[in-house]
Amino acid sequence: MPTQVKEGVVSTALLKLPSHEVSLPLVEGTEREQAIDITSLRSDTGCITLDSGFSNTGACESGITFIDGEKGILRYRGYPIEELANHSTFVEVAWLLIWGELPTAEQLASFRRLLSDYELLHEGMRHHFEGFPANGHPMAMLSAVINACGCYYPELLETRINDEQFRRACAILVSKVRTMAAFSYRMTYGKPMMYPDPKLSYCSNFLHMMFSNPHARYDAPPAVVKALRQFLILHADHEQNCSTSTVRMVGSSGANVFASVASGVCALWGPLHGGANMAVIEMLERIREGGESVKSIVEKAKRKQFLLMGFGHRVYKNFDPRAQILEKTCGELLDELGTSDPLLDIARELAEIALTDEYFVERKLYPNVDFYSGIILRAIGLPLNMFTVMFAIGRIPGWIAHWYELSRDPTARIARPRQIYTGPTERHYVPMDQRVAGSTGSGA
Ligand code: ACO
Repeated sequence: MPTQVKEGVVSTALLKLPSHEVSLPLVEGTEREQAIDITSLRSDTGCITLDSGFSNTGACESGITFIDGEKGILRYRGYPIEELANHSTFVEVAWLLIWGELPTAEQLASFRRLLSDYELLHEGMRHHFEGFPANGHPMAMLSAVINACGCYYPELLETRINDEQFRRACAILVSKVRTMAAFSYRMTYGKPMMYPDPKLSYCSNFLHMMFSNPHARYDAPPAVVKALRQFLILHADHEQNCSTSTVRMVGSSGANVFASVASGVCALWGPLHGGANMAVIEMLERIREGGESVKSIVEKAKRKQFLLMGFGHRVYKNFDPRAQILEKTCGELLDELGTSDPLLDIARELAEIALTDEYFVERKLYPNVDFYSGIILRAIGLPLNMFTVMFAIGRIPGWIAHWYELSRDPTARIARPRQIYTGPTERHYVPMDQRVAGSTGSGA
């Protein structure tokens, strides 16, 4: 019987082990990236692969986002990020990421109507915010309330929801996330909750819920709306990053879209990922307040005493195209608002020194998306603890798109990596009266 060649297989790779050789299929994507398909490796050889941080591991095939880290290319569904940032809207990009094509006028209008239908929070859900302590972190509130959507929409908890149900789940997440974010902010600052206004665009509506007051409506200046729109578009997806991989991993067990997306919010929170936008501002503030000079920060980073926040990326080894766009947006926004921010000058000085320093050049460390985004968020008037929440609002369409792609993939399996065990070999239970301090391992 002829061997069946899998789709995308272009050739084979030969793996030589001490005992024997195996030939493994070489798979190629549409942009000519190649991967060795090791699906049969363990059954053929008894070996697994070890790849700390998954730097060399393709966890899936995906048609959503393409990144070429060497060339600084980022495309959503084939469209360059620069074109989308300059010509599209966040709602249109959400549609593109989730359903794969730019929407027609009719599709976009009907999705916008659905977003308006779902922009309010169920009153019961609104009460969750009153139960949180006023100084609670908005990321904790966001992940909790997104997960709680499962209690309010039990009919959407299946993995294989139908197309109409999935459209509703998308609208619930994309639309309500901004209401949730704004409510967490208002609650923290003891301000009355402002309800959404369906006549406003996605970004203006969010800014209205954040900054309007019952007797003083906030009409966001166009430059602020534009900067926010670009910020959200640039954060909308980034293929298999930590939070998206988390969403896919949780979704692979059959978990519903709300639970999977809530797990993405938790993964995003860390300072090495979405939390970096807060950490950058804290670092720049320290420099401004005179606690630290730009030079000494760079020297500390080189001595490995400190990570230069907003620098470096697992995939980009030339430049992060999102950082380039945001640096420009940042300058334009401050100009339009007729203000300045000393943190932007410090950021530019830091970038200049780091970009010419051998340590950073050798390791291909460049400003990433978080380096300039915080200055934009400050100019918009957002408090520091909301920065990672803003990243989460932007990333919602990407997380949904990946959950959907996975849920429609007939070849998808539960994510279950293996390990190389390095603990003790078999030993036997020691009764309490025979144990010596330290013999149980911790020494405590
Ligand atoms: N400052 C100083 N040195 C750094 C930095 C940094 N920000 N980032 C990496 N390095 C050094 C490492 O110490 C290492 O040096 P070595 O080769 O001498 O050991 C080398 O550069 C390679 O770094 P890795 O740790 O292998 O890079 P990795 O791909 O694992 O991590 C990450 C990428 C997490 C982004 C890292 O660069 C980092 O921590 N940056 C700061 C936090 C940050 O800005 N995160 C946001 C990332 S973008 C996003 O998630 C949206």
